[in-house]
Amino acid sequence: MQGRPARLYCRNPGSEHLRTKARALKAASTIEGVAAILHDLGKQGVRDDVLFKPDRLTEGEREEMAHHAAYTQTILDKIEYPEQLKEVPKIAAYHHEKMDGSGPFGIPGAEIPRASRIISVADVFDALMSPRTYKDPMSVDQVVGILEKGKGVDWDPLVVSALRQIIPDLEHTLYAAPAPGAVPDAEPLDEAA
Ligand SMILES: [Fe+2]
Repeated sequence: MQGRPARLYCRNPGSEHLRTKARALKAASTIEGVAAILHDLGKQGVRDDVLFKPDRLTEGEREEMAHHAAYTQTILDKIEYPEQLKEVPKIAAYHHEKMDGSGPFGIPGAEIPRASRIISVADVFDALMSPRTYKDPMSVDQVVGILEKGKGVDWDPLVVSALRQIIPDLEHTLYAAPAPGAVPDAEPLDEAA
Protein backbone atom coordinates (compact mmCIF):
# COMPACT_ATOMS: atom_id res chain seq x y z
CA MET A 1 0.00 0.00 0.00
CA GLN A 2 1.36 3.37 -1.01
CA GLY A 3 1.15 6.56 0.99
CA ARG A 4 0.91 7.28 4.61
CA PRO A 5 0.04 4.41 7.00
CA ALA A 6 -3.42 4.48 8.51
CA ARG A 7 -3.70 6.16 11.89
CA LEU A 8 -5.67 4.28 14.51
CA TYR A 9 -7.21 7.21 16.28
CA CYS A 10 -10.06 9.59 15.80
CA ARG A 11 -9.37 13.29 15.29
CA ASN A 12 -12.41 14.30 17.31
CA PRO A 13 -13.01 11.55 19.88
CA GLY A 14 -15.75 13.47 21.66
CA SER A 15 -17.54 14.74 18.57
CA GLU A 16 -21.26 14.43 17.99
CA HIS A 17 -20.44 12.93 14.61
CA LEU A 18 -18.54 10.07 16.29
CA ARG A 19 -21.30 9.56 18.86
CA THR A 20 -23.84 9.35 16.03
CA LYS A 21 -21.69 6.75 14.27
CA ALA A 22 -21.28 4.75 17.48
CA ARG A 23 -25.04 4.72 18.09
CA ALA A 24 -25.68 3.64 14.50
CA LEU A 25 -23.07 0.87 14.79
CA LYS A 26 -24.69 -0.44 17.97
CA ALA A 27 -28.08 -0.47 16.23
CA ALA A 28 -26.86 -2.06 12.98
CA SER A 29 -28.43 -5.47 12.50
CA THR A 30 -26.87 -6.59 9.21
CA ILE A 31 -23.36 -6.98 7.85
CA GLU A 32 -24.24 -4.39 5.19
CA GLY A 33 -25.23 -1.97 7.93
CA VAL A 34 -22.01 -2.45 9.89
CA ALA A 35 -19.83 -2.12 6.78
CA ALA A 36 -21.74 0.95 5.62
CA ILE A 37 -21.10 2.76 8.88
CA LEU A 38 -17.38 1.90 8.83
CA HIS A 39 -16.68 2.27 5.10
CA ASP A 40 -14.86 5.61 5.32
CA LEU A 41 -12.88 4.85 8.46
CA GLY A 42 -9.74 4.91 6.33
CA LYS A 43 -10.07 8.66 5.93
CA GLN A 44 -8.20 8.77 9.23
CA GLY A 45 -5.14 8.00 7.11
CA VAL A 46 -5.58 10.96 4.75
CA ARG A 47 -3.72 14.20 5.43
CA ASP A 48 -5.85 16.91 7.05
CA ASP A 49 -5.11 19.47 4.34
CA VAL A 50 -6.53 17.07 1.77
CA LEU A 51 -9.38 15.62 3.83
CA PHE A 52 -10.65 19.01 4.98
CA LYS A 53 -9.78 21.06 1.91
CA PRO A 54 -12.70 23.43 1.34
CA ASP A 55 -12.21 23.47 -2.46
CA ARG A 56 -12.28 20.80 -5.10
CA LEU A 57 -9.30 18.45 -4.94
CA THR A 58 -6.56 18.40 -7.53
CA GLU A 59 -5.91 15.21 -9.48
CA GLY A 60 -3.02 14.35 -7.17
CA GLU A 61 -5.11 15.01 -4.09
CA ARG A 62 -7.90 12.84 -5.46
CA GLU A 63 -5.42 10.01 -5.90
CA GLU A 64 -4.26 10.50 -2.33
CA MET A 65 -7.85 10.51 -1.12
CA ALA A 66 -8.55 7.30 -3.03
CA HIS A 67 -6.13 5.48 -0.71
CA HIS A 68 -8.70 5.78 2.08
CA ALA A 69 -10.45 2.63 0.85
CA ALA A 70 -7.26 0.58 1.39
CA TYR A 71 -6.72 2.30 4.75
CA THR A 72 -10.22 1.22 5.74
CA GLN A 73 -9.31 -2.40 5.10
CA THR A 74 -6.00 -2.04 6.98
CA ILE A 75 -7.77 -0.69 10.04
CA LEU A 76 -10.71 -3.09 9.98
CA ASP A 77 -8.47 -6.14 9.41
CA LYS A 78 -7.04 -5.53 12.89
CA ILE A 79 -10.38 -6.28 14.52
CA GLU A 80 -11.62 -9.74 15.50
CA TYR A 81 -15.15 -10.37 14.26
CA PRO A 82 -17.82 -12.92 15.01
CA GLU A 83 -18.26 -15.35 12.11
CA GLN A 84 -21.23 -13.48 10.60
CA LEU A 85 -19.21 -10.24 10.32
CA LYS A 86 -15.91 -11.61 8.98
CA GLU A 87 -16.44 -10.00 5.57
CA VAL A 88 -16.89 -6.49 7.00
CA PRO A 89 -13.33 -5.28 6.14
CA LYS A 90 -13.61 -6.37 2.51
CA ILE A 91 -17.17 -5.11 2.05
CA ALA A 92 -16.32 -1.75 3.57
CA ALA A 93 -13.02 -1.38 1.68
CA TYR A 94 -14.60 -2.10 -1.71
CA HIS A 95 -17.12 0.74 -1.53
CA HIS A 96 -15.42 2.66 -4.37
CA GLU A 97 -14.96 -0.32 -6.69
CA LYS A 98 -16.42 0.14 -10.18
CA MET A 99 -18.31 -2.39 -12.27
CA ASP A 100 -15.73 -1.99 -15.05
CA GLY A 101 -12.88 -2.79 -12.69
CA SER A 102 -11.43 0.74 -12.61
CA GLY A 103 -11.84 1.27 -8.85
CA PRO A 104 -9.03 1.58 -6.27
CA PHE A 105 -8.59 -2.20 -5.92
CA GLY A 106 -9.26 -2.92 -9.61
CA ILE A 107 -11.90 -5.56 -8.86
CA PRO A 108 -14.44 -6.22 -11.66
CA GLY A 109 -18.15 -6.03 -11.03
CA ALA A 110 -18.88 -9.74 -10.71
CA GLU A 111 -16.32 -10.03 -7.93
CA ILE A 112 -17.44 -7.00 -5.94
CA PRO A 113 -19.52 -8.13 -2.95
CA ARG A 114 -23.18 -7.27 -3.35
CA ALA A 115 -23.09 -5.31 -0.10
CA SER A 116 -20.22 -3.17 -1.42
CA ARG A 117 -22.20 -2.39 -4.56
CA ILE A 118 -25.12 -1.27 -2.43
CA ILE A 119 -22.92 0.93 -0.24
CA SER A 120 -21.30 2.41 -3.36
CA VAL A 121 -24.60 3.59 -4.82
CA ALA A 122 -25.90 4.85 -1.48
CA ASP A 123 -22.62 6.67 -0.85
CA VAL A 124 -22.56 8.54 -4.16
CA PHE A 125 -26.26 9.34 -3.90
CA ASP A 126 -25.70 10.87 -0.49
CA ALA A 127 -22.57 12.76 -1.60
CA LEU A 128 -24.35 14.32 -4.58
CA MET A 129 -27.53 15.12 -2.64
CA SER A 130 -25.62 16.80 0.18
CA PRO A 131 -24.13 20.30 0.27
CA ARG A 132 -20.37 20.74 0.37
CA THR A 133 -18.36 23.90 0.89
CA TYR A 134 -17.58 23.94 -2.83
CA LYS A 135 -20.97 22.88 -4.22
CA ASP A 136 -24.70 23.01 -3.65
CA PRO A 137 -26.70 19.80 -3.34
CA MET A 138 -27.91 18.44 -6.68
CA SER A 139 -31.55 17.81 -7.42
CA VAL A 140 -32.91 14.27 -7.39
CA ASP A 141 -33.27 14.42 -11.17
CA GLN A 142 -29.62 15.41 -11.60
CA VAL A 143 -28.42 12.64 -9.29
CA VAL A 144 -30.61 10.02 -10.95
CA GLY A 145 -29.26 11.17 -14.32
CA ILE A 146 -25.68 10.63 -13.16
CA LEU A 147 -26.47 7.21 -11.71
CA GLU A 148 -28.31 6.15 -14.85
CA LYS A 149 -25.42 7.29 -17.02
CA GLY A 150 -22.90 5.37 -14.88
CA LYS A 151 -24.84 2.18 -14.27
CA GLY A 152 -23.11 -0.90 -15.62
CA VAL A 153 -19.81 1.00 -15.78
CA ASP A 154 -19.52 2.52 -12.33
CA TRP A 155 -22.50 1.10 -10.46
CA ASP A 156 -24.59 -2.06 -10.37
CA PRO A 157 -27.73 -1.46 -12.50
CA LEU A 158 -29.87 -3.53 -10.11
CA VAL A 159 -28.82 -1.41 -7.16
CA VAL A 160 -29.46 1.81 -9.08
CA SER A 161 -32.95 0.54 -9.96
CA ALA A 162 -33.59 -0.44 -6.34
CA LEU A 163 -32.50 3.00 -5.15
CA ARG A 164 -34.82 4.72 -7.60
CA GLN A 165 -37.76 2.85 -6.08
CA ILE A 166 -37.10 4.26 -2.60
CA ILE A 167 -36.16 7.81 -3.63
CA PRO A 168 -39.62 9.21 -2.79
CA ASP A 169 -39.20 7.92 0.78
CA LEU A 170 -35.67 9.35 1.02
CA GLU A 171 -36.82 12.76 -0.19
CA HIS A 172 -39.32 12.96 2.64
CA THR A 173 -36.98 11.71 5.34
CA LEU A 174 -33.20 11.99 4.98
CA TYR A 175 -33.23 14.85 2.47
CA ALA A 176 -36.21 16.83 3.68
CA ALA A 177 -35.53 20.53 4.22
CA PRO A 178 -33.99 21.10 7.70
CA ALA A 179 -36.05 22.82 10.35
CA PRO A 180 -35.38 26.56 10.64
CA GLY A 181 -32.28 27.16 12.78
CA ALA A 182 -31.08 23.55 12.57
CA VAL A 183 -27.28 23.16 12.53
CA PRO A 184 -26.06 20.64 9.91
CA ASP A 185 -23.60 17.91 10.92
CA ALA A 186 -19.99 18.57 9.94
CA GLU A 187 -18.96 15.72 7.64
CA PRO A 188 -15.49 15.20 6.14
CA LEU A 189 -15.43 15.75 2.40
CA ASP A 190 -15.84 12.67 0.25
CA GLU A 191 -14.12 13.60 -2.97
CA ALA A 192 -13.62 9.96 -3.84
CA ALA A 193 -17.34 9.22 -3.78
FE1 LIG B 1 -15.18 6.59 0.59
